[in-house]
Formats: sequence, structure tokens, C-alpha cells
Amino acid sequence: MTKVIEIIGIGKKYPGVVANDNVNISIEGGSIHAIIGENGAGKSTLMKILFGLVKPDSGSIRVRGEELNLKSPQDAIAKGIGMVHQHFMLADNATVLENVILGSEPTGALGTIHYAAAREKLTEISQRYGLEIDPDQLVASLGVGERQRVEIAKVLFRGAEILILDEPTAVLVPQEVDELFSNLKGLTSNGLTIIFISHKLDEVLQIADDITVMRRGTTVANVHPKETSKKALAEYMIGGALPEPHPGESSRGSDKALKVEGVSFTDHDGRKVINELSLDIFSGEIVGLAGVEGNGQSELIELIMGLVKADSGSIEIVGLDASVATTRQIRDAGVGYIPQDRHRDGLLLGASLWENRVLGHQGTAPMADGLWVNKSAAKSDSERIVSEFDVRTPSINVAAHALSGGNQQKFIVGREMAGAPKVLIAAQPTRGVDVGAQAIIWNHLIEARRNGAAVLLVSADLDEIFKLSDRIAVIFRGEITNYLDPKKATPETLGMAMTGEKIA
Ligand SMILES: Nc1ncnc2c1ncn2[C@@H]1O[C@H](COP(=O)(O)OP(=O)(O)OP(=O)(O)O)[C@@H](O)[C@H]1O
Ligand SMILES: [Mg+2]
Repeated sequence: MTKVIEIIGIGKKYPGVVANDNVNISIEGGSIHAIIGENGAGKSTLMKILFGLVKPDSGSIRVRGEELNLKSPQDAIAKGIGMVHQHFMLADNATVLENVILGSEPTGALGTIHYAAAREKLTEISQRYGLEIDPDQLVASLGVGERQRVEIAKVLFRGAEILILDEPTAVLVPQEVDELFSNLKGLTSNGLTIIFISHKLDEVLQIADDITVMRRGTTVANVHPKETSKKALAEYMIGGALPEPHPGESSRGSDKALKVEGVSFTDHDGRKVINELSLDIFSGEIVGLAGVEGNGQSELIELIMGLVKADSGSIEIVGLDASVATTRQIRDAGVGYIPQDRHRDGLLLGASLWENRVLGHQGTAPMADGLWVNKSAAKSDSERIVSEFDVRTPSINVAAHALSGGNQQKFIVGREMAGAPKVLIAAQPTRGVDVGAQAIIWNHLIEARRNGAAVLLVSADLDEIFKLSDRIAVIFRGEITNYLDPKKATPETLGMAMTGEKIA
């Protein structure tokens, strides 16, 4: 095999941070090359450089022996480089075909769009690589795994031979991950080259041909999956042993801090997405909510947080009637909320970290001081979060967008756990964080439970559900269909329950 990509001595500085420092990686043609590393290690920055989104300060990149001088993603695409971003960028109200051709429409003589030709090309791509997609389906009706296939098809449509996937599995359930992996194998057996970024070490060991580890902006190791282990990878990444959570004994109290009774909810498309659902959580207890994406998890969270109102049934949260309380009142009563989409609901990306500390907490001490925001409290508490949650940032005055994805997440978790919440709604709390930070967040969730919080843990990571939950509640088609004991259940029984089978 030949080296298709050579990354040589790449460096990139931002104010106060060295994002990339003498990065060297060679990538074989037709292989899957994984890049792993702790949050803020510089992985996304490097990929943005390779895709022409960010200009490096130093170093060079060669593709098939030719030195690249990328001014924009268009230049990268012209060289056969494509990128699938972690946050999907598809238009919901358009079909798969329309989304795929958007921006690179094949046109006829009079500038008309040549749909028939585009459809033929897309069908050919989907057959050749085993990417199952229906060109005429509306994107709005697709699940996450299908959307991702459309994103991949879109990149292939533009002639990409090198595919960059930045954390493609973060939002997928296990079965979708298997499908993605078989798609990726289909691509490499056709000679394409894939760069794959992930925090999930098991996956990396399963799928990669080569693994590069980055730490603090630079490449620290290059290993073959067969010659390494999860433990060894974690040690390269964080420069020490992999921390383990210590769940300890259950500390369940006698009062129910969260009571959901017979709640139904119909969404704006008229679908009954929550169906007479009941769920109680005691103080001092972690209940893990497991389910295949799209079975009502998001709506249940929105109902509990007062963001939408139920058709019927009742929700009581720390003594408040959530059917009449506002989100602000619910938060002010002592409810922490880690939202699943940190960019949409968790942060003001343009505002500083300390201003983001205030977000959602303007109503209560110590952030509120009469009608004013207590700036110095916000600043000092931000400093505390940065140190306790190991948020890597030059200071609390930088804008949230300047932090790496995982570090943004650590900051949100720290904010929502401040002030000993009585109820904590934690949706995908460790999505996109590295193994070290994951252990830190796990230990904080366990500590919140010990301090008497009722914790609703919603997670697509079944390992996380097993490790932290006192009880596992399975949600299927808007109902809680099973309760499982994490000490007795296996991943297989949980998987069966998640697809609707009754487990005794
Ligand atoms: N636009 C920017 N302005 C300032 N600093 C930035 C910017 N983009 C990235 N950085 C900094 O560069 C460093 C590397 O960030 P990068 O996003 O590449 O990390 P990462 O390895 O992808 O991490 P994660 O696993 O959390 O996604 C971080 O310290 C980050 O704060
Ligand atoms: Mg990143």
C-alpha cells in the first residue's frame, strides 16, 4: 500500500493555545485510520486544516505525493477530500436526492438541473458502496443512522476518495454503529481512505487499520489495533492509568423527587409520542433511561423541564406541578438540566464561559443579586468548574466556541451540577468527552446521588447506563415497558427490551 496522505509538521496556534504542534501522520490508501486523543488534543483542528477550513501556521500536507495549498473546502473537495461533520447539515424539508445534489447540481445546457442524471449517479453510488438510501424520502422522516448515510453519500457524490469522519458514532445506537462500520468497510474495499475520529476505544480497536494518538496538540503514538489494548490506548491518551468510577452503594431515600403519572403527549405532526407514561425517581437514586433513539426520550425530557406541555397526566418535580410551572420555575426549584444538544440548548457560543455560567441560573443565588447578575460569583464559580471538571481553556473569559467539543460539555455538566440540585436531568452527559473526562463526570453524578439528588440519566451509551444506574427503565414507543436491574441484566437482555420485547 502507498501513503495517500502525509501530514508533516503541522502547527496551529490560537490566542493562548497551541492547538496543533508538529503533527506528523502518514495514512495508507484504502485504510481506516483512527485518530484518538483527549478533549482539546487538537483532532478537529487538524481535520479542519485537512479540509481547508483552517489555515495552518506551519507544516505541509501531501496528498498522493502532491503538496496541498488549500484556501477553502472547495479546494479540498477538488483534491478528493470530503468531510462529514458531527452535527448534521441536511435540510429537513427536502428529499434525500435534493440534499445530496445541493450545491453541486449537475446542470444541462440551459442551466437546468439534471435530476435524472443525478438520480442515476446517486443510485450507482449507493449500490457500489452498499449505502442503503431512498432518494425520494424526505430527510425529516429519517433516523440518525440514515441521515448519516445521506451525509456520506453527499460527500461521495462530490467525488471524495478521502473521507474525514469527526466522531461519527457519538449519536448512533449500537446497531447503527454496526451498519456504519459495514458501510465503511465497503468504502475501503473500493479503495477509499477513511479518517475516523472517536472517543470510543472499543470501536476504534474494532474498525481501525491504524491508530494515531494525539495529546496536547501533538502526535504521541502510532499503533496497530492488534498490537495494543484499550488500557494501553487510554494511557497514551491521558498519560496515566484509566480512571474507573466507584458507584458505591445505593443511597435511595424514601421520597419521590420526580413523579410522572400517566402522561401522554402528541407532537406537532399529530403523532402520540408519549403514551400514558409513568416513571418515579426517588431522591438519592439514579434511574437510567434506555431506548432506541426516537422512542420518546427527548419529549419526556422536554415535558419534565416544562418546555412542552402534556395532553394529559401529571408531572410533579420537587413538589412543583410541571404542567403549570415554567422552565424557569422548575430550574429555580433545584433542577439541573444537561441538555442533549449542547450547541442548541446548552451554550451561547459567542459568549464567554463566565457568562455561560449564568445562563439558565439568572434567577437564583449565587448568580442573582437582587435584579442584578452577580458577576464576581459567576466568575469565581466558573473558575471552580474549570478546575473541578478539568475544563481545558486558557481562561474563563474566552468565548465558548473556542473550546473543543468535549470541554464545552464538561463546562455544562459542571454548571448544572452546581449548588447540589435536588433533581438532575442528564441527557447524554458524556457525549463526545474523552475517557478521562468521562470518569470525572461519572464520579460527579455518583456524588450528586450521594447528596440526595434524583438523577434521570438518558444515554445511548449502554455501558454508562449499566455502570451508573440503580434501576434501568426501558422506553419503547413512548411507554416504559420494562425495569431492569443493572446487576442482573446483560447487554443482550437490555438490547431485546429496547426493541420492545417484554423481559420478565
Ligand atoms: N476557533 C478557535 N479559537 C480559539 N481556540 C480554539 C479554536 N478552535 C479550537 N481551539 C482550541 O484548540 C484546542 C484544540 O481543539 P480541538 O477542537 O482541535 O480539539 P479536539 O481534539 O477535537 O477535542 P474534542 O475531543 O473535545 O472534540 C483546544 O484547546 C481549543 O480550545
Ligand atoms: Mg473535536
